[in-house]
Amino acid sequence: MELTITRPDDWHLHLRDGAAMAAILAATARRFARAIVMPNLKPPVTTVPQADAYRQRILAALPRGADFEPLMTLYLTDRTPASEIEAAARSGFVKAVKYYPAGATTNSENGVTDWRHVRAPLAAMERLRLPLLLHGEVTDPAVDVFDRERVFVERHLVPLRRDFPELRIVLEHVTTAEAVDFVRAAGPGVAATITAHHLLWNRNAIFQGGLRPHAYCLPVLKRERHRAALLAAATGDEPQFFLGTDSAPHARAAKESDCGCAGIYTAHAAIELYAEAFAAAGALERLEAFASHRGADFYRLPRNRGTITLQRQPWTVPATLPFGDQVLVPMRAGETVAFRLAPDHAATT
Ligand code: DOR
Ligand code: ZN
Repeated sequence: MELTITRPDDWHLHLRDGAAMAAILAATARRFARAIVMPNLKPPVTTVPQADAYRQRILAALPRGADFEPLMTLYLTDRTPASEIEAAARSGFVKAVKYYPAGATTNSENGVTDWRHVRAPLAAMERLRLPLLLHGEVTDPAVDVFDRERVFVERHLVPLRRDFPELRIVLEHVTTAEAVDFVRAAGPGVAATITAHHLLWNRNAIFQGGLRPHAYCLPVLKRERHRAALLAAATGDEPQFFLGTDSAPHARAAKESDCGCAGIYTAHAAIELYAEAFAAAGALERLEAFASHRGADFYRLPRNRGTITLQRQPWTVPATLPFGDQVLVPMRAGETVAFRLAPDHAATT
């Protein structure tokens, strides 16, 4: 069985930098034409010149002949001036601005501590139609870690929508039925990305026969009813739900630690894993809209012209993959993935 679809885009990706980036970039470029690249480097990408330099490093690290366009983002801080947003909108290569609540996740120390500090840049984004990408979790230690997304929607997203009704928003990597409901009800200016791991796994994966650090990400995996809600949204016909892998590589040692990093690496099999989730839901014919059409439409970019072909042919994921001078453990390490990318398309599109 084969499935040919318009070449997809990844609307939420971590590429890291340096030798680590060089080791993982080809996997994404084989599958996706474009990706929204997260700015949570150390130090974060907070200015347009920094985004330009990062973009040049990504282009230089691409394999020869690769056809891949990195779409850059800026990291919003308490000190981001409106003029930086204006410069971003003018640049042509910065496509969005990322909001991390300070302390919520990997490299978020420089994130926003209070919405009152970012009213001027948010107003500029609203005016210039530059999307705001949200890591939607509260950092309040009194809130249960499994409730942090739901509480973010109530405490932050509802007031944000009220204050900036025209601001284009992507609630990134949604993990709960409540987030899905909010996005569904919000109308065309609000969208959400969904990861492959949140479609395939519920929170039991973190505790399968023991503690599984490679199944730990943020927002953390949720219960089965939430996974079912995400799958229904992804395979449904609403245009505001689209693909964003949140592939987030960390060296094996950083995950297998007494305080392991959050992040699941999926770029090695990203579209194949989504195909599995859609096939399991009997909705493979919906994959193209989710993976290749809706994100481009939301970002007001042209849809891609090339295609990729997926074959239903199981293959075994390696136990580890190179990651700079270290290794990482990819999703499904040592296990099979049911779909593979047809090699000819991968090389030529
Ligand atoms: O699991 C995650 N990993 N969630 C994030 O928000 C950040 C990411 C990373 O950069 O590793
Ligand atoms: Zn992310």
